[in-house]
Order: sequence, then structure tokens, then C-alpha cells
Amino acid sequence: MRNVVRIINPYDAGIFPRGDVILLNSNENPYQPSEEVRKSYIESVDKINRYPDPSYIELKKGISEYLGVGIENIALGCGSSELISRVCDILLDELDKVAIPMPSYSLYLTYAMLRNASILLPIYERYSLDPDFFEKEKPKLSIICSPNNPTGNTVERKIAERIAETSEYLLIDEAYVEFSEKSLLNLVYEFDNVIVLRSFSKFFGLAGLRIGYAIANKEIAEALEKVRLPFAIPTPGVAAAVAALRSLDYYLELKRKIVEERERVFRELIRLGFEVYPSEANFILFRTEKDLFGKLLQHGVVVRNLSGLMGLDGNFIRMTIGRREENDRVLEILESECCKTSA
Ligand SMILES: Cc1ncc(COP(=O)(O)O)c(C=O)c1O
Repeated sequence: MRNVVRIINPYDAGIFPRGDVILLNSNENPYQPSEEVRKSYIESVDKINRYPDPSYIELKKGISEYLGVGIENIALGCGSSELISRVCDILLDELDKVAIPMPSYSLYLTYAMLRNASILLPIYERYSLDPDFFEKEKPKLSIICSPNNPTGNTVERKIAERIAETSEYLLIDEAYVEFSEKSLLNLVYEFDNVIVLRSFSKFFGLAGLRIGYAIANKEIAEALEKVRLPFAIPTPGVAAAVAALRSLDYYLELKRKIVEERERVFRELIRLGFEVYPSEANFILFRTEKDLFGKLLQHGVVVRNLSGLMGLDGNFIRMTIGRREENDRVLEILESECCKTSA
């Protein structure tokens, strides 16, 4: 086995208890799929003796209409996480410089390590990126996340542009972008070296079906498609994703509810005295003094304990925005635990 595999930490997805618990740990959409998605998914079962269409043209057409991008600019993957791996595969040779600002999503590190890349992990308070670092280092690949997991903020366009100018390639992970009002997608048309990653797992609530996509110039999109596992996305996943794109109004209404709840939870956490990070995603990060992760767990609520994550100094909890009654339960428990401010 390659030595690098021995030193890579396994992806820590947190704990996944089943049963009567409130799951606010993986930034999933807490709502059920639209009726159209449910129906298309069920109907697709009759076709599962056949392979899916290898070109995935129907899904690509749907994405193309949704975002106003060319079909030739789209590459598909088994979740956007699988595409992070494939982007590293097509771009990185041994010892190529990869810049991954922290704190951010840990999978970037895993896949860059697997390529034996030379990895730079600059740490930015509240993920407030400094483009001078990228200018000085001139990475082969820079990987940024907007809105960033776990801090929740977006990267300013001007900063992303400067990073694109000074990196050979720039990967922008927009898994949560539909919950914000700021996308960097059109940088793909300004810069030939920018790849934007999107997901059906969050806004479209299809985390269980594993569908993601990348938007990039034709040459990069073709390279990503060329090395994709043939038939990677199963037929029911394709049917559900195509139907989800057709049910956009339904998902926009869910987004409205989630964003409204996010703002309410933010205000309530401030009222309870926490240091809270403003969020443009479907989760909120806040600092705690006590082990509130354990307390919430005792009450059947699972959030993400991010104490010790690279770039976060102290105890932190990341809470997915759930349904109103789920969020109320969290706030009730936190209030009863007599929280103190930690400035
Ligand atoms: C920032 C970020 N990117 C990508 C992903 C992967 O999403 P998926 O593989 O479900 O598309 C996640 C999942 O939590 C994430 O937080």
C-alpha cells in the first residue's frame, strides 16, 4: 500500500445514530422531496435492469437550463465529493502546490494528499481570505469554498478573481450556494482555469442519492467526464434529480423557510450569549465554553462537534438548520444549559 494512504485520516462524518433523534449534523435539507421527485424516483425502478444513459444528456440539459450554462461545460459525479477527487486526479502531479485555506471542508486535504501534492494550509480567521498569499505562492491548484463549510460566509468576488489570476487552477466549491445570494459561477466564463462544484445534496435535498456536478471550460469538463466511472450515477438518482430541477418552485419555497429559520436561530443564539458566525448557508457555527455537544446528544439532538478542527481555536458547534420545531428544541436545550458568552 502507498505510504500516503497510511497517514491520511479517515473522513470523520461525525456520529450517525438512528432512531428517534434530531439530526442536525450533516447540513442536509430537513424536508421531504417534492411529489414529482417521489413519483419519478419510484417510476424509475422499472428501468433498473438497464444501465443508465451513459451520456446523462437529460440531466445535463436540466442543469444547463437551471444555470444557463452550456451542456459541454458540465461534468457529473457521485456527489460533489467524488468530483473533488476527480479534479485532483486530472490536475495534480506529485509535489504540485495545492493551497487549501482553513478552516474548511476536510475532504480537499484527503484527495490532494492522495496525489502526493505539496499542500499549503493557510489559516484565516472567519475564513477571511488574503489573496496576497496566493499571489506569493502561485499554487497549481487553489481550493476555496463559498459559502464555506463550516464558517458559513461567502468569498468576495474580487478576492476569488485575484486567486484565479494567481493560481494555475481554482476550484470553487459551491455545495451550499443556493442558500446564499452570491454565486461565483460566472467566473467560469471570465477565467479558463476556474471550476465550480455544485451538489444536489443540500438545496435539492437528495443527499441519499449522491449527485454532484462541476461547471468548467469545455476542456476541463471533458477531462472530468472522460475519467468518470461509466454509469456512475444510478438511474433512480438521475430520475430524481431531473424531477427536482422541474420542481424548482417547491425547493425555492423550502429555501425560503430554511433561510428564515437560519436568521431566527442566529438571533436566538446571540440572545443566549454565544459567539455566532453569520451564515449564508443552511448551517450555523458558534463557539461554546462547555461541552454542549454532549449535552445536546443526551437530549437526542445530534449536531457537529468541530472543536479541534484545523483553523478553529476553541470549542465549536456547527448546527444544521432544521425544521422550526427541531431548531426550537436545540434552542430550548441550550437555554436550559445556562450558556455563557465567550468573547
Ligand atoms: C463544502 C462541501 N462540499 C462538498 C460536500 C459534499 O457533498 P455531496 O458529495 O453530497 O455533493 C459537502 C458535504 O457536506 C460539503 O460540506
